[in-house]
Amino acid sequence: MGATGAQGGGLVRAILNDPDHEFNVRAVTRDVSADKAKELARLGAEVVAANVDDLESLKKAFQGAYGAFCVTFFWDHFSPEKEKKQAKAMAEASKYTGIKHVIWSTLDDTRKLVPLTDDRMPTLMGEYKVPHFDAKGEANHFFTDLGLPVTLLNTVFYWDNFIYFGLGPKKGPDGKLAITMPMGDKKLPGIAAADIGKCALGVFKAGQKYIGKTLGIAGEHLTIKQMAEGFARVMGKEVVYNDIPPEVYRSFGFPGAEDMGNMFQFKRDFEKEYCKSRDVELSRALNPSLLTFDKWLNQNKERISLE
Ligand SMILES: NC(=O)c1ccc[n+]([C@@H]2O[C@H](COP(=O)([O-])OP(=O)(O)OC[C@H]3O[C@@H](n4cnc5c(N)ncnc54)[C@H](OP(=O)(O)O)[C@@H]3O)[C@@H](O)[C@H]2O)c1
Repeated sequence: MGATGAQGGGLVRAILNDPDHEFNVRAVTRDVSADKAKELARLGAEVVAANVDDLESLKKAFQGAYGAFCVTFFWDHFSPEKEKKQAKAMAEASKYTGIKHVIWSTLDDTRKLVPLTDDRMPTLMGEYKVPHFDAKGEANHFFTDLGLPVTLLNTVFYWDNFIYFGLGPKKGPDGKLAITMPMGDKKLPGIAAADIGKCALGVFKAGQKYIGKTLGIAGEHLTIKQMAEGFARVMGKEVVYNDIPPEVYRSFGFPGAEDMGNMFQFKRDFEKEYCKSRDVELSRALNPSLLTFDKWLNQNKERISLE
């Protein structure tokens, strides 16, 4: 799923570039005639149409497959309810078609550590602390309740957010380039988005080993100050870290600002637990070409605009 996007696209390319040629890839898209879908076909993928909101289309798309990589698309709709429905549909399609190994790309249900009664951060949409995390974590049960052979894959902040998600260094009023995040001096585990797919291929290739397991991946655990220093090293321009309180981040007003403010605060306040759940060594074992932040920056510096 998500084959024309970051996570699924990384897996499509990882499978196609695998020197062992262990799997073929079926790329699921809503529009087989779109440029990105055609590009996947050109690279050698079987491209099929399905919509995660349409269970019957998923059943057709999953038919005969060995494995399914399941991911949802929160930022397309900002609805945790919709996200849970989509996860449920993928779990049901996997069950119906007898998938032998499902990978569910999930995140933590933060309410296990920050119950709704904990007022250090606001409750959002009535029943969530970090909606795009909590919905995924809550949805784990759709996969496990059906007794599916599932690996729960906890993903992590993509460094690509510095290119596509508006989180890159920006000039402040003092003219200095700054990364603005409410992370204090805590570490933010991150990864090159393409490495998620490469790790997922490692999980599939390991056969039974990770079925029934929960894994967490990361390329490196760095403080934001260390990332700012990385930008300065690789891009040759001074970049500083602008640490702000989470409540200021939540008030920025862009769509999802409150969700992301709570997310960063969760990662800051539970640094120990969160970092522990994202294992760099395991990620490198699954994907020996796993990038560090500096290597990722070097590969992407032309695509990052330091305006
Ligand atoms: N950004 C981060 O740091 C980060 C970190 C961890 C987890 N995540 C999670 O990653 C998820 C998004 O994954 P991504 O970044 O790989 O997405 P992405 O790059 O935005 O790609 C979105 C993909 O979703 C597909 N899609 C959208 N709606 C669909 C539908 N109704 N049916 C079928 N396919 C649909 C699109 O395919 P077509 O247009 O071809 O149909 C597209 O390939 C989000 O839920 C987010 O919370 C993000």
